[in-house]
This record gives sequence, structure tokens and C-alpha cells, in this order.
Amino acid sequence: AYNEKESLFIALNFAREFFQNNLNTEEGQSIGLSYFKERGFNPAIIEKFQLGYALDSWDQLLVQAKKSGFETDILLKAGLILERENNPEHYYDRFRGRVVFPIHNLSGKAIAFGARILTQDKKQPKYINSPETAIYHKSDVLYGIYQAKQGIRQEDNCYLVEGYTDVISMHLAGIENVVASSGTSLTENQIKLIKRFTNQVTVLYDGDDAGIKASLRGIDMLLEGGLNVKTVVFPEGEDPDSFARKSGQADFKRFIQTEAKDFIQFKIALFARDAANDPIKKAEAIRQVVASIAKIPDPIVRSVYAKESANLLSMEEDILLTELNRQILKTH
Ligand code: GTP
Ligand code: MN
Ligand code: MN
Ligand code: MN
Ligand code: MN
Repeated sequence: AYNEKESLFIALNFAREFFQNNLNTEEGQSIGLSYFKERGFNPAIIEKFQLGYALDSWDQLLVQAKKSGFETDILLKAGLILERENNPEHYYDRFRGRVVFPIHNLSGKAIAFGARILTQDKKQPKYINSPETAIYHKSDVLYGIYQAKQGIRQEDNCYLVEGYTDVISMHLAGIENVVASSGTSLTENQIKLIKRFTNQVTVLYDGDDAGIKASLRGIDMLLEGGLNVKTVVFPEGEDPDSFARKSGQADFKRFIQTEAKDFIQFKIALFARDAANDPIKKAEAIRQVVASIAKIPDPIVRSVYAKESANLLSMEEDILLTELNRQILKTH
């Protein structure tokens, strides 16, 4: 007999295979596969990420899983089916009529799914994800870590993006050291996961207000974790996926290499752009930059950044150090 976690892994593996095989059906080809094609995903990348398609049906997964001997209880605990609201003990598939992105653990087993709607429909969420289960803790996982771990070690750098499709498009552009936070703010466990492979993170969040806000939060978390942090800002309205497709492989690579700025330069550019002639804005910029430096655990690294920031902000190092020490006392 299997214990519960083992049963969940087997159920998730069944669903993963079911969604993949659906891409070979008539519906899967005309809807799922053509969606992937339109996004520039080729058969090799579809296979690499084990992408699939959930049929536009209430219970195709449930019916097939039951035929294969899975109990309702396990399918429920796996997050694959839901109980009908006004009809207890009647169930339906969670993922329907969507393309499916399996989320893998470090050893490459599917532990959850993200599923994207195919057409813009304001009444439905763009992505539906698996709920928390005994084998899936959202806050412990980074999308793409299995496909990226070797590349992260090799390059000694991890690109951090927001979405599933950003990860996949970057692989298509030949960049394999990339993981996604999947639209939520970074957690300590996710940072620990990255630190198993590298101490360098380059944040590539979307070029919109939400992306900038999320990257500011993320930067401080990463600094606190003792990681070196760089940032690339994309043009307004672009994310790594859209920008990679627009630019082509060579230009995209060049862009993220030349635009990767140290977090200090990023924050100074962000807060001090028009602060030159405005003492109040300049003071705010200094406080913002110092707040991030205060998060760095290593005092030597901290003092290097303090010196660099004083230069970039053209101010006395002493004043910056005083503010830094004040903030360190506050945070530690
Ligand atoms: P595409 O539109 O397919 O290119 O997706 P995207 O990754 O660019 O989406 P977006 O930038 O809007 O969001 C980034 C990530 O946040 C997605 O990849 C998802 O992981 C997550 N996300 C976005 N929308 C939703 C949603 O409606 N529900 C949930 N649960 N997650 C979402
Ligand atoms: Mn946990
Ligand atoms: Mn966005
Ligand atoms: Mn995006
Ligand atoms: Mn996108």
C-alpha cells in the first residue's frame, strides 16, 4: 500500500500524462497546440516542460482517472477535482478548457499545475492553479527550478521572472538559468532554494507598475538572504516573454546582459531621476537606497555599497553612513 504523499505523486503524474496526451486529440491539436504554436512554443519545448491541455469537459479527467483505479478521495486531495456546490459527493474537473503548465519539484516530478485560459475572458481568471496539498506548498516552490538547476550552477546566476511563459520563452532564447515566482512575492524558502545553486540573482520583472513594486520587495528579500542582486528593467508593457519574441534571441541576450544593473543603480535611477534639483526627493531617494543596504547581512559588502551609493548620489559618505547606522539599529 502507498502512503498518502506517494498516492498524490502518482495521481499528479497520471494527470500530467493525461494533459500531455490530450494535445494529440483533435480538440487538443486545434485548440491547445495551436495556442502554443501562436506563442512560438515548438514541440521540443512543449516536451521539455511537459505542457498539456485540459479538455473542455466537466469530468474527462475524473472519468479516466476512475477507470485507472484512482479513488475520488485522492483526486480531491491532489486538487484535481472539486465537489459540486449544490450536489454533494458529485465532482468535476478543476482544470477545463485550458492549456496546462505542470509545476515540478527539484527531482522533476509534477506536484501541481497552472492552467491558462485561451481567450481573453474578463469573467474568468487568466490562470487557475492547484491548491495547497500535502505535496505542494506554493511558497516553497519556484516554477522551472528542475529545468534550470544545472544552468544556474553553470552560469552561477539565477534569472528571476514573474510568469510561466517568461521561463519558457527564455529557454527558447537559449537562457536556461531562469525560474518564476509565479506572480506572488518571494518567500524565504524560495530564496533558500536558489541559494542551493548560486548566490547571484538577476531580477527580470514585468515593465509595469506591479512589476517594479514586486521587484523592489523582492530585492530587499534577496539582500536579506545574503544574495547579490541585479535588476533589468523592461520597456513599459513588456515582460521577458513578449520582449524576447519581439527582439529575437541575440538582441534579447544582449539586452539583459547590458541592462543588468546592480540593485543600487536600479534604485538610484528609480528614485533619483528627477531628484537632482529637489532636496526633498533626494532625501527620499537616499533613505530608499539606504533601506536596502541596511538589509545586507555582511558588513563589508554593506560598506562597499555605502561608498558606491554616496558617489552615485554625490553626497558626503559620512552623512550616508549615519543614516545607514540608524536604519541598521532599527532593523536588526
Ligand atoms: P501571459 O499573459 O500568458 O503571457 O502570462 P504572464 O505570465 O505574462 O502573466 P502576468 O504577467 O499577468 O502574471 C505573472 C504570473 O502571475 C503568471 O505567470 C501566473 O503565475 C500569475 N498569475 C497571473 N494571473 C493570475 C491569475 O489570474 N490567477 C493566478 N492564480 N495567478 C495568476
Ligand atoms: Mn511548507
Ligand atoms: Mn504583469
Ligand atoms: Mn507577464
Ligand atoms: Mn506575458
